Amino acid sequence: MRFTVVDLFNKKKQRQKITMLTAYDYPFAHLVDEAGIDMILVGDSLSMVIQGKETTLPVTMDEMIYHTKIVVNATKRAMVVADMPFMSYQISVQEAVRNAGRFVKEAGAHAVKLEGGREILPQIKAITESEIPVVGHLGLTPQAILRMGGYRLQGKLPEQANRIKEDAVSLQEAGAVAVVLEVIPSELAKEITESLQIPTIGIGAGPYCDGQVLVIHDLLGLFEKFTPKFVKRYINLREEVLNAIKQYKEEVEKGIFPGPEHSF
Ligand code: KIV
Repeated sequence: MRFTVVDLFNKKKQRQKITMLTAYDYPFAHLVDEAGIDMILVGDSLSMVIQGKETTLPVTMDEMIYHTKIVVNATKRAMVVADMPFMSYQISVQEAVRNAGRFVKEAGAHAVKLEGGREILPQIKAITESEIPVVGHLGLTPQAILRMGGYRLQGKLPEQANRIKEDAVSLQEAGAVAVVLEVIPSELAKEITESLQIPTIGIGAGPYCDGQVLVIHDLLGLFEKFTPKFVKRYINLREEVLNAIKQYKEEVEKGIFPGPEHSF
């Protein structure tokens, strides 16, 4: 049975932690689903960790649809959330609804995620009214990198913190089913989590959120460009993969592989 928005609200009520990870392709989506993770985010972070770009800005709707379709196909239980890419929802309410609809109709997504607060409330309301669940995203919003000038802690100053708190309540009122809180102080995340009926899912927002999300390439040690403080690397898969490839190269060059057991 798929994890649904009802399960999401029940977990918050019962104070059970919600688990979320990103995935972008069949092998990892399949593994994340098999491990029993509640929600899979097909993040626009794929622009950086899959396509090797500097920011999340370049990834297109068609590319996000392609990856979301693969992830939905690879899973049985997890709720798949598609990240709406930069400029797919900012221009107009109509475009936002059309693009959110594409994720559901063409890719089979179960929800969409949008970055931002008060400035995108009409979009969140309209998508919700089209019966598509919306996950909000506040704090460090990577699509605002050009304005923010870097991936920095948000909500440190009282006026910034108040804005995030107010936006969280507004997102809930507009119909969001959950909100991702990225790189904000733990105490601020705690206050927001306690003030909302919908769950908060933290990334770099401390232990008090209702759930946690990480980029899977960070958790597995597959993204070497930088590792933020909030990432826990559970394995250094990059090194393991590199060693395996080097060993293969050496064995082919020395005539060790293929051996008789791999030959006909
Ligand atoms: O794109 C993404 O992976 C995200 C997470 C960092 C929450 O938005």
